[in-house]
Amino acid sequence: MAELILGQVLSYGADPFAEGPGAARHLTHGAVLVEGGRIAAVGAADDLRAAHPGARVTDMGRALLSAGFIDAHAHYPQTAIIASWGKRLIDWLNSYTFPEEMRFADPAYAREVARRYFDLTLSNGTTTTVSYCTIHPASVEAYFQEAQARGLRALGGKTCMDRDTAPDGLRDTAQSAYDESKRLLQAWHGQGRLSYVITPRFSPTSTPEQLSALGALWAEHPECLMQTHLSEQQDEVAWVKSLYPEARDYLDTYEAHGLLGPGGLYGHAIHLEPREIDRLHEVGASLIHCPTSNSFIGSGLFDMGGMVAAGLKVGLATDTGGGSSFSMLRTMAAAYEVGQLRHNPLHPAALWWLATQGSARALGLDDRIGNLAPGMEADLVAVDLTSTPAIAQRAARAGDLWEALFPTIMMGDDRAIAGVWVAGARAK
Ligand code: GUN
Ligand code: ZN
Repeated sequence: MAELILGQVLSYGADPFAEGPGAARHLTHGAVLVEGGRIAAVGAADDLRAAHPGARVTDMGRALLSAGFIDAHAHYPQTAIIASWGKRLIDWLNSYTFPEEMRFADPAYAREVARRYFDLTLSNGTTTTVSYCTIHPASVEAYFQEAQARGLRALGGKTCMDRDTAPDGLRDTAQSAYDESKRLLQAWHGQGRLSYVITPRFSPTSTPEQLSALGALWAEHPECLMQTHLSEQQDEVAWVKSLYPEARDYLDTYEAHGLLGPGGLYGHAIHLEPREIDRLHEVGASLIHCPTSNSFIGSGLFDMGGMVAAGLKVGLATDTGGGSSFSMLRTMAAAYEVGQLRHNPLHPAALWWLATQGSARALGLDDRIGNLAPGMEADLVAVDLTSTPAIAQRAARAGDLWEALFPTIMMGDDRAIAGVWVAGARAK
């Protein structure tokens, strides 16, 4: 049976980085008609009620209906170590991340954390995640099984590490990374709403042989995305130069091994050289901005203005547990603050777009998710713009949608998420 969800509606007709806030479409008394897991219509509430008298009506009052949030880079196995104090990237990986990821050798633990992770992301209004798993194939199975059970569109892959820079017990080999990634890809890619992502962790934890093996796998399966980390911290960039002395720059360590292409998702990408920016643009790759992580681990200030001006696609992500929040609202706020520190204040229309259609575009999925429009998959959130006393008193002064929305972007959390629909089914 069709469901007609009433509320304010926010959708996009264009990219607000190109067109400004006018790229957004706002209906004050709007409605979204959902049928068979997809959006059947978006329009004025009165019109859709009259046209669809048989539909079940869910009235969300003044809440804002939007496409669900898309977290374009996360590490679900780091759920339990989020907000671990006081280290920079390499120390943080060694002290907190790698010991925790070792626990995923136990499939029961992987299943437990995957359940907890999707409980948290859904309660924050995130309806699509792109996650690194661990080196253990069972961690990938747990992630996809849990996503599938909830009907979620989810992307992820086995994190590959074969270099002795990764600890004993958390290494595969070039061959086993290839074989296991391929088996998992064949088992899961395109199963319902799931997509396999080829996942070398980053150049410092892979040998050139492993990068080449995964590059070969990607060449065999160009329908898959590939995700990795790029130029997150200056110490890391220097480390890469020492491990790969022949490389022109960090990106070249990927490029030389077949790991640069249009379906490439490069996380962080803060300390880029001009050649790297040019090549990323030439091939049509995507950068993933992880602003809470970049502050939390002390990595640096992503140059959103420069990357957009260079024509690069940019998605937005929490990078949990390097990131300090599961909330894409908090992540938008952090992106705003980083923009401010670079004298580039991002408009709320652009922040919201990054967390929805922008991330979908970065993943090549903007024909299916990330916007409210007929034919799109019905992944929706209803956002209460008065979810705390502090937010409500500020929103009460608002003169337009953006003033009403910005306090929730800056101060909102899971309490603002009044409803979540996954493929048309209510999930919160
Ligand atoms: N670089 C390589 N691995 C990681 C990780 O797990 N988190 C972050 N933030 N950066 C990384
Ligand atoms: Zn990451």
